[in-house]
Amino acid sequence: MMAAGVDAPDQAADIGPPLWLLAELTYRCPLQCPYCSNPLDYASQDQELTTEQWVSVLRQGRAMGAAQLGFSGGEPLVRQDLAQLIAEARQLGYYSNLITSGLGLTEAKVNAFRDAGLDHIQVSFQASDPELNNAVAGSRKAFEQKLAMARAVKAAGYPMVLNFVIHRHNIHQMTDILDLCRRLEADYVELATCQYYGWAFQNREGLMPSRAQLETAEAAVNRYRDQLADAGEAMKLIFVTPDYYEERPKACMNGWGSMFLTVAPDGTALPCHSARLLPIEFANVREQSLQSIWYHSPGFNHYRGDGWMPEPCRSCDEKGKDFGGCRCQAYLLTGNADNPDPVCSKSPSHDRILAARRAADHATAGLEELTYRNRHNSRLFYRTG
Ligand code: FES
Repeated sequence: MMAAGVDAPDQAADIGPPLWLLAELTYRCPLQCPYCSNPLDYASQDQELTTEQWVSVLRQGRAMGAAQLGFSGGEPLVRQDLAQLIAEARQLGYYSNLITSGLGLTEAKVNAFRDAGLDHIQVSFQASDPELNNAVAGSRKAFEQKLAMARAVKAAGYPMVLNFVIHRHNIHQMTDILDLCRRLEADYVELATCQYYGWAFQNREGLMPSRAQLETAEAAVNRYRDQLADAGEAMKLIFVTPDYYEERPKACMNGWGSMFLTVAPDGTALPCHSARLLPIEFANVREQSLQSIWYHSPGFNHYRGDGWMPEPCRSCDEKGKDFGGCRCQAYLLTGNADNPDPVCSKSPSHDRILAARRAADHATAGLEELTYRNRHNSRLFYRTG
């Protein structure tokens, strides 16, 4: 039974509505990227919401005030009802974004999604050349397919938005990556250095670039930006640096339960895509309305505000800026999600970040030593917990 209910607003006065809804439609994916942010034991969570249940989630989210909608996964294209969900989103008035590897996409689907009202498509790549791209993706045909689909997206009139996850095995390709984007006539390029959650945390030592690699890459991006400006080209480059090289934490999700709401494939509602790894019980949209979950569930209220904060966060004059950082990162690095995010140099656990940086200076692991995200490996994590 789905918890129906587009209730009248009854929110607590100091809690705003969720503005961003991320619909993780499935954990199924044809690729095996070793930095996937899905849970390690995703193979144990294969009870996906039905079309009807997703439609109800979209309606409830919109009634609460959500305006931005992301369709992600796994690979959302494996859901046969994607066009139907897109059409529903359009009818409800969402601005919708499809986050895809491009695998399973066809020109006909791109056109069908456009006709159904999809606003935006982001295609991810693993590298600038087929060999490395396909080795990281764990698929022999991925690169050619991605090229074809990036072109199809552009031809359908969408802005071309390309995403590259950057790590120590492709960070040396920065200029080649940008040349590729230019050849494809990309409008926006997101160069997102790996964030260490899920499979990426498992593989952190084999993925994390050294500071020297990072600085070289950033300089290459800045040079490229200047060249584009000189040539009068409008391609926008967004280089996201890893917080492991920062001294202050990121304002993760803009604060827990403040504007982001993720619904996992099985209907679990989460304040962020990683939160199900925390020892906190999160409610499911099959049993409770989205509104009740957002405003009243213990999971969403757990880290709202600053009453939960320990020192030094509690008396820190920057707590209104970073909200204590990332709870998932605190848990992964210290075993206790209540702790300050170790990225912060004021955290008593900051030495774990420093140790990770030192390890990155000396890392030698090749691609073959990474743990790839696939059902076989996921089941191992499920069995061993
Ligand atoms: Fe979960 Fe930051 S990723 S709180």
